[in-house]
Amino acid sequence: MTQSENWPQAGLTRLILPSPVGRIGTGAPDPEPELLARLGPDTAMMMGDNPALPRMPAKPRLVDFFTHRFNDVTFRHLLTSAKRALDEGQSEKVVLGCLLHDLSNGCLVRCDHGYWSAQMIAPYVDEEVAWAVKYHQALRYFADEQMGYSYPESYRLFFGPDYVPPDYIRRDAEEARKHKWYATSRLITLYDIYFFDKSEPIDPELFTDLLGRHFRTPEEGLGFDGSPVAHMWRTMIWPNNFL
Ligand SMILES: [Fe+2]
Ligand SMILES: [Fe+2]
Repeated sequence: MTQSENWPQAGLTRLILPSPVGRIGTGAPDPEPELLARLGPDTAMMMGDNPALPRMPAKPRLVDFFTHRFNDVTFRHLLTSAKRALDEGQSEKVVLGCLLHDLSNGCLVRCDHGYWSAQMIAPYVDEEVAWAVKYHQALRYFADEQMGYSYPESYRLFFGPDYVPPDYIRRDAEEARKHKWYATSRLITLYDIYFFDKSEPIDPELFTDLLGRHFRTPEEGLGFDGSPVAHMWRTMIWPNNFL
């Protein structure tokens, strides 16, 4: 058996149709008609493990997504945020929130990333951590000088100097400010800084013990526990599946 035969669809040319949410509006043409026209005895629409990606273990843990799937910026950003919170003696809930706050950016979806990330982790972490991750998205747009948080310079660069967040972001930030867990979410925004090329490499295993205490990894592995969010994790395992 050759190496390529260890993969599904061996011997066929695998055709990949990128998910529309990542392509629409970018100016790239819709590749679907052309891919469908190429289907024949030697081709197949990609399903299952993609040989171009590291193969995930059968029972994936959170750290496997960090090391096998996440893009470099998200990988470093999450680890650096969490390490800073840890070094400054923040609670384990805050450190965990920092480690998970932009999870969906790693390999799933960027739009409304705080909401997606919160949903992805909700079955596995304390309710306060998922709440804080959800609301960090809205709180990031509003300064709280008492807590030492100013509007991020990076946002001026990302969105332009006159960007105004939409109403739902304003509404959710106001709701968060009145909530008993406000400080947890606000602390996530404090450590939520883009380091770009300045950060030292951090081994995700640094957080293994903390995750063992506070992240309830399902026995079947993330993606296979039948939870309401399992499909989100499976989408990251097989991001190129046609259906
Ligand atoms: Fe974020
Ligand atoms: Fe972030």
